[in-house]
Amino acid sequence: MKPQTSLIMAVSLDGKISTRDGAGPRFASEADGIRLRELRSHADAILVGAGTIIADDPTFTENGKYKELRIQRGLAPNPIKAVVSGRGSVPETAQMFHPNGAPALVFTTERISSSRLVPLQKVAEIYRVGETTVDFQRVIEILGEVYQVKQLLIEGGGQVNFDLFRAGLIDEVYLTLCPKVIGGKDVLTSVEGAGFNFLDIVDVELLDHRLVGDEIFLHYRVCKD
Ligand SMILES: NC(=O)c1ccc[n+]([C@@H]2O[C@H](COP(=O)([O-])OP(=O)(O)OC[C@H]3O[C@@H](n4cnc5c(N)ncnc54)[C@H](OP(=O)(O)O)[C@@H]3O)[C@@H](O)[C@H]2O)c1
Repeated sequence: MKPQTSLIMAVSLDGKISTRDGAGPRFASEADGIRLRELRSHADAILVGAGTIIADDPTFTENGKYKELRIQRGLAPNPIKAVVSGRGSVPETAQMFHPNGAPALVFTTERISSSRLVPLQKVAEIYRVGETTVDFQRVIEILGEVYQVKQLLIEGGGQVNFDLFRAGLIDEVYLTLCPKVIGGKDVLTSVEGAGFNFLDIVDVELLDHRLVGDEIFLHYRVCKD
């Protein structure tokens, strides 16, 4: 069965997800960090792009309250960690590959060189799902069928988000609108890629909103009709 997919992002007032000097989502508040960990505590698996691993090097290892919550919910102590990396640019030394009892997966393509494949094979399970670009439909199928993932949390970045929206594979969006202005035409936004034409724009419906200090936590459903 197809997993339920939720995308989570923190954006500045002008839609940026990082800063000019590549500081990533550190501009978001502690409350946003708590929201992220709460959502992670419901997820069977987390999916990110190689660019996010290279920039932020997240661990995805839970501890304390959130680990307990996962166990109470009948989930594994840590979520499955999956990265999309068509060329295999994700470093094998990344924290996501540190053993924590949860499988680490790399979704790549036939383009990956053996000099990248060999070290990654030592730290992760590798799936080649495409000639030149990763087929996200296959990624979602593999997560659902092979790993029984029911709830998938997608944590960016901008390129992966665009590919997933284009493939119609995002069900929900959790967006934190942060009271910051970052600017810069080359600074990443929450959805990158080639962009959509007018007729292909993705519509979303607001399900919930919450104000915490000057930040707004938004929850949308993606309209697929
Ligand atoms: N504010 C937030 O909430 C938030 C959250 C997450 C990330 N971020 C920021 O977002 C930035 C990273 O975003 P990004 O857009 O540069 O990178 P990204 O989407 O994280 O990863 C891009 C990489 O993923 C692989 N990839 C993506 N789509 C692919 C496809 N269809 N086929 C094959 N490979 C594919 C490629 O890896 P290869 O190069 O190996 O082919 C590509 O270089 C960082 O600055 C990070 O801090 C912010």
